[in-house]
Amino acid sequence: MSEAKTLPAITTSRLVLRMLTEDDCDAVYRIFSDPDVMRFWSCEPYTDKAQADELIRNCKAGFDSREFFQWGIANAEDDKIIGTCTLYALDKKNLRSEIGFALARPYWGKGYMHETLEALFAFAFEPLGMHRIEADVDPRNERCIATLEKLGFQREGYMRERWFVAGERQDSVFYGLLHADWLAAAPEQPRADASNA
Ligand SMILES: CC(C)(COP(=O)(O)OP(=O)(O)OC[C@H]1O[C@@H](n2cnc3c(N)ncnc32)[C@H](O)[C@@H]1OP(=O)(O)O)[C@@H](O)C(=O)NCCC(=O)NCCS
Repeated sequence: MSEAKTLPAITTSRLVLRMLTEDDCDAVYRIFSDPDVMRFWSCEPYTDKAQADELIRNCKAGFDSREFFQWGIANAEDDKIIGTCTLYALDKKNLRSEIGFALARPYWGKGYMHETLEALFAFAFEPLGMHRIEADVDPRNERCIATLEKLGFQREGYMRERWFVAGERQDSVFYGLLHADWLAAAPEQPRADASNA
């Protein structure tokens, strides 16, 4: 991984997690400009395609500096981007990382994020050697909480009014998943199928 020139692609049965390119700008903009997707995000919906361009450029820079890893989630059939998932706040000493993820609204309710995160965690816990993965979630974000709990995350704490977005103070509920929790919840998890890892 330390030698890799690009983010490793990770394949699942229906999806490919891959590096975003400038060709994905329209798809990224559609996702992050949708108020439904951004309702509990840490910033307001995008209003300008330049913001999507910047996100794509930052993904490359984040990988180059190994500060964070953000994958585009592409449909395996047509390579169209339907979401993104991120390991960020990577702490190499304590072997922990936070996660962020979003799916385009038409793809909710089909298990795509579950499938994405199973593969992402196989990668994070094994080739990357993480011990712990953390999520900071708005307590009203029921879909996100359901996704995390189904994957074995435990609720670990609560912070009041931690965010200030679009004039609204938002609380955070903290979730954590240890490598041991993940193994216990799904001992038969497939190994991450990642190229260039
Ligand atoms: C959070 C978010 C990714 C969850 O999307 P999702 O599609 O509900 O997530 P999952 O992949 O876990 O899918 C679960 C749903 O798929 C269904 N499903 C269908 N096939 C499935 C399968 N093979 N495996 C698991 N779930 C499946 C489940 O029944 C469930 O549907 P339901 O909620 O109608 O019961 C999505 O709501 C989103 O992008 N929100 C905006 C961004 C955001 O808030 N991100 C989190 C902040 S970090």
